[in-house]
Amino acid sequence: MPRKILVTSALPYANGAIHLGHLVEYIQTDIWVRFQKMSGNECWYVCADDTHGTPIMLRAEKEGITPEQLIARVHGEHSRDFAGFHVGFDNYYSTHSDETRDCANNIYGKLKSAGLIETRTIEQYYDPVKQLFLPDRFIKGECPKCGAKDQYGDNCESCGAAYAPTDLKDPYSAISGAKPELRTSEHYFFKLSDPRCETFLRQYTSRDNGVLQNEAANKMQEWLGAPGENKLTDWDISRDAPYFGFEIPDAPGKYFYVWLDAPIGYMGSFKNLCQRNGLDFDEYFKPDSKTELYHFIGKDILYFHALFWPAELAHAGFRTPTKIFAHGFLTVDGAKMSKSRGTFITAESYLNTGLNPEWLRYYYAAKLSATMEDIDLNLDDFCARVNSDLVGKYVNIASRSAGFIAKRFNGQLAPAAADLPAIKSIQEAAARVAELYEAREFGKAMREIMALTDAANQYVDSVKPWELAKQEGKEVELHAACSNALNLFRLLSVLLKPILPVVVAKVEKFLNIAPLAWTDTQSLLAAGHAINTYEHLMTRVDPKQIEKLVEANKESLAPTQEQQSQQRHAEHQQNEVKAESPWEPFCNIDDFMKVDLRIARIANAEHVEGADKLVRLTLDVGNNETRNVFAGIKAAYDPAQLIGRLTVMVANLAPRKMKFGLSEGMVLAASDSTGKTPGIFLLSPDSGAEPGMRVK
Ligand code: MSP
Ligand code: ZN
Repeated sequence: MPRKILVTSALPYANGAIHLGHLVEYIQTDIWVRFQKMSGNECWYVCADDTHGTPIMLRAEKEGITPEQLIARVHGEHSRDFAGFHVGFDNYYSTHSDETRDCANNIYGKLKSAGLIETRTIEQYYDPVKQLFLPDRFIKGECPKCGAKDQYGDNCESCGAAYAPTDLKDPYSAISGAKPELRTSEHYFFKLSDPRCETFLRQYTSRDNGVLQNEAANKMQEWLGAPGENKLTDWDISRDAPYFGFEIPDAPGKYFYVWLDAPIGYMGSFKNLCQRNGLDFDEYFKPDSKTELYHFIGKDILYFHALFWPAELAHAGFRTPTKIFAHGFLTVDGAKMSKSRGTFITAESYLNTGLNPEWLRYYYAAKLSATMEDIDLNLDDFCARVNSDLVGKYVNIASRSAGFIAKRFNGQLAPAAADLPAIKSIQEAAARVAELYEAREFGKAMREIMALTDAANQYVDSVKPWELAKQEGKEVELHAACSNALNLFRLLSVLLKPILPVVVAKVEKFLNIAPLAWTDTQSLLAAGHAINTYEHLMTRVDPKQIEKLVEANKESLAPTQEQQSQQRHAEHQQNEVKAESPWEPFCNIDDFMKVDLRIARIANAEHVEGADKLVRLTLDVGNNETRNVFAGIKAAYDPAQLIGRLTVMVANLAPRKMKFGLSEGMVLAASDSTGKTPGIFLLSPDSGAEPGMRVK
């Protein structure tokens, strides 16, 4: 009986591009799914964009579009990138869907009836300028432990300490720069600390239950606390308006927190697939389901998947996941991906640079195991391994034998030698390799496959078709050697098919055979079988391509996604405006009067260590008040020549924390955006103006 399996990868956030770190997960999952499908199981792979939350709302606002427009655009970009790497979702959906909303309302309702939802009044930081409650990531300040500046509200990147945003010293809003205020609000909680959840989770996450990897199960014991000591805390599942998400059915102005509806998005995506394909949703999600459910995730989101999600499912009358597979994080050349080093590589840039997606699929496979260990993409090793294993070993078998079959034997094969050791060893290894795929030990599987590939090449080396071809009367030997080689190649192609779906599709065309399934490892091509012309299967990686890729991702050279969308927005606005007057949209006098322009005297000006463009200005704005302002004018002005002169500043610009300190305003300067007259020209008032005078 084929197994019925539902598989998910984590839902990527809809406010950023897919990068090579993400791809570890989607490629890992896709390989596993392709293996299941090839093995004759009924396997469905669903995913979606994770579309809700404050960051997405703010990003849309910044780009001047609605959140719905933003998520629609990103859905297109994500779908394009995944397709580019041959990630074969059966459904790539969105959490901003009716199906997900229905499932979220349903689960919430069931938890509420079970007495597992509670409201509580909490204190939270509020941005009085932007007028919203600030998520932890949008509050910055000084680390309470080590004093590092500009740290996030949840943890310090400098010393690693975790804390509450209210612990930060000198907190400020990362959105407006304003000092946040503590305000109270009513929030909804899922009572994870309830004894029912605790009892369930202790059993569900135990090592013996086998749902989690051992290292993850150990982590759970830490989070749960020793028996008798319940360390679980209730989970805040609501956020106040303004928020982009689903409004809680019986609570106007309150929204489900993004992490409440994100895993429910797995269900929503599957429900949508069921409606389209006539599948039975309940068969997969009823409590006693005979089907299997697997979630592939990164180790950073284990807490959500191993505690909240199963506890929600179990108490809302659904089945729980069969297994949760957590993987480690990607490093590039041994370090965290970095924008300045060019190793924060987007999926799009990889494809645009002309690199073959199957190279990365193979490299990741060779590095992946069933553990949560981080994996390293070493760019030199990447070139070496792809060129040696895929091109030098695997493809080489076909390219050395196909031509003779075409030219000398009319494209027809001789019978394969079923007892050839190289053939028998692949057939015997197939079950072992299958176990390794099933267990997500892809690295071990690749080593085994490459050892078999080496043996196949040794066979070809020993029979030397290129020499047989030159000798008279060796037709039979030549025909047998090349036919055996192509049979070896076909068997290896079956083993590599989950990794290299496109190359193997080309192989199927060239060998003139039906799509390969796992059971094909036990058969051979019949005598007389006619093959098609051999076409080039894969090129070598050129290290120059890698250099180009890294250059393309260096932040200073490549505009960031944010800059690109700002640019798009600006162009878009320009286009709209061009039809009318070049000065539209107009601002009215009230708009203008909001900007408080003042005469300022540059009391001091100095270089800023480590900044290429900035000069630090101390501005005298009258009334004995001075302001610290960082101005991007270093290219045009020597600080010494600025001291003493008058200029014009925006005096009521919200203060902004910069890497080098707080900037409390902005000086005004002219520049030519067409670049014809390069330079920066600081404004000066006519003589007689005094610091503090208003400009209007
Ligand atoms: N939206 C949440 C997941 C919700 S699932 C119901 C999220 N999104 S994410 O875009 O930040 O990450 C998506 C997946 O990619 C996560 O499983 C995450 O662990 C994984 N990765 C993101 N960066 C990664 C690396 N650098 N390396 C490996 N995996 C990484 O989390
Ligand atoms: Zn710190």
